[in-house]
Amino acid sequence: MVVKAPTVKLSSGYEMPIVGLGTYARKAEPGQVRQAVEWAIEAGYRHIDTATIYRNEGEVGEAIANKIKQGLITREELFITTKLWNDKHAEADVLPTLQESLSKLKLSYIDLYLIHWPVSINEKGEDAEIDYIETWRGMENIVKLGLARSIGVSNFNKEQLTRILSVAQIKPAVHQFEINPTLTQHDLVNYVNQYSIVSVAYTPLGLLSNARPEFAGKDVIKTDPKLGELAQRYGKTRAQIALRYLIQRGITVIPKSFTKSRIEDNLNLFDFELSQEDMDVVDSYNLNFRCVPSLPMAKLKNYPF
Ligand SMILES: NC(=O)c1ccc[n+]([C@@H]2O[C@H](COP(=O)([O-])OP(=O)(O)OC[C@H]3O[C@@H](n4cnc5c(N)ncnc54)[C@H](OP(=O)(O)O)[C@@H]3O)[C@@H](O)[C@H]2O)c1
Repeated sequence: MVVKAPTVKLSSGYEMPIVGLGTYARKAEPGQVRQAVEWAIEAGYRHIDTATIYRNEGEVGEAIANKIKQGLITREELFITTKLWNDKHAEADVLPTLQESLSKLKLSYIDLYLIHWPVSINEKGEDAEIDYIETWRGMENIVKLGLARSIGVSNFNKEQLTRILSVAQIKPAVHQFEINPTLTQHDLVNYVNQYSIVSVAYTPLGLLSNARPEFAGKDVIKTDPKLGELAQRYGKTRAQIALRYLIQRGITVIPKSFTKSRIEDNLNLFDFELSQEDMDVVDSYNLNFRCVPSLPMAKLKNYPF
């Protein structure tokens, strides 16, 4: 079954599908990302999330090229996101870094380019203390050059976002940050909405994901019978309930899976609707617990959390 996700209109005027495939893995076997992206496109995904630091833009590009060659999709139907890493925050670095990504992705433009984090580092990994306002000017330049259709940020806090908004000629179209049932982020989502910025939830499965054994003891959401009962009533999995909860809040989701059946499940969210009462049940699991604190960055000047 091929599922088509609805789209949301960004402030840039372009449409973004509200479900995308996440592609980050601490460790991936060669070919695994290519295979996952191909399965995803076959299942109906048209939105793929990658980043320079994931070191998989080449495989994402191969998968896209294969599917275009097979005639399954056209470039225009796809929405591809990649992200600028922290060591390329100098204004002059933004353009050549994106060009390198485009070359790996075998694309002539990117749909969405994000500043991955507000922090910056030099080649030794030390704090480069580059103001992300400078980086944003580089981001605006690539839109003017026609190399990115939309630009945005990721992992910015409210104050950092406010600074960008106060100087931006082109406003961020998207803010990508961690949102899931145990980190509900109502405050930041409401703030972002005020400026017509679309929230994209990374790690949308949070503690429901099967990848995080280190969070043992915090797994009430995996075992709580109330959520189990709810999943059973809708004929869906706990993970699908979590993703549906996010999209009903107007949030775009980018769940990662390299497993064919789960890639399909994570897009199969459009044949049911959670009642307000059930939305409140999912919301009640909030622990303000961050799966991705990126603590090694905590010593850097613009660490956001
Ligand atoms: N901007 C940023 O700083 C940032 C940070 C983190 C992530 N991201 C992006 O967001 C994407 C998603 O976040 P994430 O990868 O951290 O976490 P996630 O998507 O919430 O969870 C991924 C994990 O959940 C498992 N999983 C997937 N579908 C499942 C299902 N239906 N039921 C049970 N388990 C399931 C996957 O395993 P299998 O692969 O084995 O199926 C994988 O181990 C990333 O891949 C990346 O593209 C961005």
